[in-house]
Amino acid sequence: MNIHPLISKARKDFPILKREVNGYPLAFLDNAATTQKPKIVIDAITNFYENHNSNVSRGLYTLAEEATEIYESGRDTVANFIGAKDPETIIFTSGTTESINLVASAWGEKNFKRGDRIILTEMEHHSNIVPWQLAAQSFGIELVYWPVTPDGMLDMGMLEELLAKPVKLLTFTMVSNVLGSINPVEQITEIAHRHGVPVLVDSAQAVSRMPTRVAEWDCDFLAFSGHKVYGPTGIGILYAKKQRLEEMIPYQVGGGMISHVGKHESNWAVPPHKFEAGTPPIGQVPGLKAALEYIAYYGIEELEKHDNELTEHALNQLTKFPDLELYGPSEIQNRTGVVSFNLKNVHSHDVAQVLDESGIALRAGHHCTQVLHDKLGVSATVRMSFGIYNDSSEIDRMFLALDQAREIFLH
Ligand SMILES: Cc1ncc(COP(=O)(O)O)c(C=O)c1O
Repeated sequence: MNIHPLISKARKDFPILKREVNGYPLAFLDNAATTQKPKIVIDAITNFYENHNSNVSRGLYTLAEEATEIYESGRDTVANFIGAKDPETIIFTSGTTESINLVASAWGEKNFKRGDRIILTEMEHHSNIVPWQLAAQSFGIELVYWPVTPDGMLDMGMLEELLAKPVKLLTFTMVSNVLGSINPVEQITEIAHRHGVPVLVDSAQAVSRMPTRVAEWDCDFLAFSGHKVYGPTGIGILYAKKQRLEEMIPYQVGGGMISHVGKHESNWAVPPHKFEAGTPPIGQVPGLKAALEYIAYYGIEELEKHDNELTEHALNQLTKFPDLELYGPSEIQNRTGVVSFNLKNVHSHDVAQVLDESGIALRAGHHCTQVLHDKLGVSATVRMSFGIYNDSSEIDRMFLALDQAREIFLH
C-alpha cells in the first residue's frame, strides 16, 4: 500500500529499482549513505558527454562555450535551490567532506590562532570532526563538544553557556545521519551571531529532505553532497557568504583559480573560481542540476511530507517490539527519515546480512559517527533511511525480515 501519492509516480523514474536482489524486489533503505539516480539524471550526464564535452572556462570554441554555459548554469540552479542570492557564493567541490575540509583549511588558516575554540556537536559525522581535529593540532585550538541529550537532540538551553567564552566557529549537522534529529539552523545561527560567532552547517542529510534557505537562515557556510540528493557522486557544494569568501585564502592551487602567474608569484581569480583549482567536476554538474530540478518538479515540501509519513510508519512499527531499541527522538516533529535501532543481543551486521537475503538494503555499523556511538554506549546500529521512492510496504517487509533474524540468532 502506498501511503503517499508521490512514490507511485517517482518509483518508476529510477531504473535500478526494477532489479531484484536475492529473488526479491530491491527495497533500498540506505538513502542516508547515498541515493539512487533517476533516469533524468543519468540522461543529463550521458547527454553532456555525448554532445557537449569539453573543459570549462578556457577554450573559445563552440563546445567549450557550451560546456562552460552548462557548468555555470548548474551554479545558478544550486543557488536557486538552496535560497542563495548570488551564484558566486556557490563553490563546486567533490562532496560534503571536501567542502568542510575547504573551510577548515582555507578559512581556518587565515582566521585560527592558538587558544581559539570551535564548537561542534557529539552527533557529527567524522567528516565534520576530523578536519577540526587537524586544525586543532596545527593551530593549538580547542574543540568544545555540544552534548547530545538522552532523547537525541541538542540542548538549546546550553548554547548560551557554551558561547559565554570566545568561540571562533560553531559547526553542526542540520540532520543527524544516525538519530534523524533535526537541529534548528535559524535559531542556532541567530544565537551564535549574537555572540559574533560564524556558523557552518553540514546539510548532507537535510537538502533532500526539507527546504534549504541559506539567505533566510543567515548561516555563514553550508555543505552538502550531490550523491545524497539523487545526483551523481564526485560533486558537492560549499555555500559561503561573500564576506567569508573574502576571508579565505586558496585551498588548492593550480590552473583555473589564478588571474596571473609569474615565475615567483601569482594572483588569484575571484571567488568562486579562486576555490576551484584544476579541472572541476564538469560532467557531474549537469547531473546535479537535473537532480535538483527533479526534486523541484515534485516539490521539496512534498518530499518532506512523504519522508515524515514513512518515519511515522516506521516508528509506530518499531515501538511495538520490546526487543528493538530506537536511537534518536521519538517525537516525529523533531526528526526525519533516518531511523537507527538495534535488535537486542544481535549484532547489527548480522541483522543487515539477514535482511539482504530478503532484498532489503540497509546499513549497519557506526555510520562514521563513533563519537556519537560512544555516547550511545553501542559500537554499531542498524539504520534504515528513506528516499522519494520508498513506501510503507518496504518498511513492513523490513520488520517481517527481522523476524527471520530473531529466529536465526535468538532461538
Ligand atoms: C551528516 C553527514 N555529513 C557528511 C557526510 C559526508 O558526505 P560525503 O561522503 O558525501 O562527503 C555524510 C555522509 O554520510 C553525512 O551523513
